Amino acid sequence: PSADIAIIGLGVMGCNLALNFADHGYNVVAYDAFPQVAEKASQELGERVTVCSSLGLLVAALKKPAQILMMVKAGQVVDDALASLTPLLSAGDIVIDGGNSFYRDTERRQAEMEARGLAFIGLGVSGGETGARFGPALMGGGAPEALSRVEKAFSAIAAKAKDGTGCYVAHGSGGAGHFVKTVHNGIEYALMQLLAEAYLMLKGPAGLSHQAIADRWRQWNQGPSASYLLEISADIAATIDPDSGNPLVEMIRDVAGHKGTGRWTTEAGLDYGVAVPTIAAAFMARAISGLPRLDLTKQTIESGSTDHALADALELAFPAAMFAAYLQGLELIEVASNENYWDIDLAKVAKGWRSGCIIRSVMLDPIADSVGQGSVLESAYGRDLLQLAEQPLRAVVQQAAASGTPVPAFYSVLGWLDGRRSSCLGANFIQGQRDYFGAHTFERIDRSGHFHFNWQSN
Ligand code: 6PG
Repeated sequence: PSADIAIIGLGVMGCNLALNFADHGYNVVAYDAFPQVAEKASQELGERVTVCSSLGLLVAALKKPAQILMMVKAGQVVDDALASLTPLLSAGDIVIDGGNSFYRDTERRQAEMEARGLAFIGLGVSGGETGARFGPALMGGGAPEALSRVEKAFSAIAAKAKDGTGCYVAHGSGGAGHFVKTVHNGIEYALMQLLAEAYLMLKGPAGLSHQAIADRWRQWNQGPSASYLLEISADIAATIDPDSGNPLVEMIRDVAGHKGTGRWTTEAGLDYGVAVPTIAAAFMARAISGLPRLDLTKQTIESGSTDHALADALELAFPAAMFAAYLQGLELIEVASNENYWDIDLAKVAKGWRSGCIIRSVMLDPIADSVGQGSVLESAYGRDLLQLAEQPLRAVVQQAAASGTPVPAFYSVLGWLDGRRSSCLGANFIQGQRDYFGAHTFERIDRSGHFHFNWQSN
């Protein structure tokens, strides 16, 4: 046997990863359970990748211990694929799940595989089709020994940041890799929603044409918001539908789909008690988009002319909103890592997201520099960014409220930031209420201990 690595699942991601490995000198064999998919893939992959007609032939072609990357749909399909594959494997072989799997499923599968002497890695893969082909961001999690054995191959195909650092990161044991990927996607939801809301504000209250929005966004992309999602959003805003002659986005039904990771990030925020309001707002906004629109009174104010000041305010507010989305995600990873003993290095998370993945942006460099050293919000970068953005963000939110433009993610950013920097949140009042009706006790600012007050005697 001479093959270095096998890929199971030959959709676009699987095929592109196979070619990426082949480009880097790896001898790749591949398999798909659906013969038509395998046939199509075999034509596309040509001679560079051998598509096997059975799992048995695939495993027989691999050098031992085997390394097998599964690129199949998350959920039951992964369990089904493992059930067919594992009887063919022998001790020491490693299976890697490159799908968007739920991290607790990954941990269950790790335990099942380890009981058979096999290793199982949960690998987050980001960057879509192009990333898979030419350099994705990869987020690994599993037993340290297994992670160190796949390090070389995954580092070879991963994207490289500008400073040359590779964007394959072994994040920790268990479900660490899939958890980091899930939160990556939660941040992706937040950034996408913020851009969608910026589009609503620029088109509505600011009165810009689609082309003007695209032009402005290309301008923004020279500054602190520079990012992959902003870049593609400018292209999307400028695209005209050849059939109708209208901007193509105007012809797309206003309902957003989702496949799980945004919900899991929101749920993880609840599970670990970490505030991720912008990620949650983005997920909820997709849910609202699926509801019937109600014919209720809504008193909106339309601006008659172009409001350049509002468009300028959005440009200044936007980096702060992006920053908030990243920090919410990183804070969630920090708490989850501590609770699960994953030992995730947050600076490596931010560094690993700088290239190849969907949420890559220039902002991840300064975030990575400050993330290990106290509060990122209070870093020099954070302070400057928030100071510049504060009044513009308030102006954006005010005008959104006045004009009836639904911008829940922007609202959440302002609420979160004001919460983080206010000397009083009203939590003292909550504690008073809790103590009043339930004798839950409260702490005092002038002496230590837990106190109950007989409020009704007063
Ligand atoms: C990536 C993307 C990718 C995919 C998500 C989107 O990092 O390359 O996140 O994994 O686009 O599955 O998820 P939704 O379908 O839930 O938007």
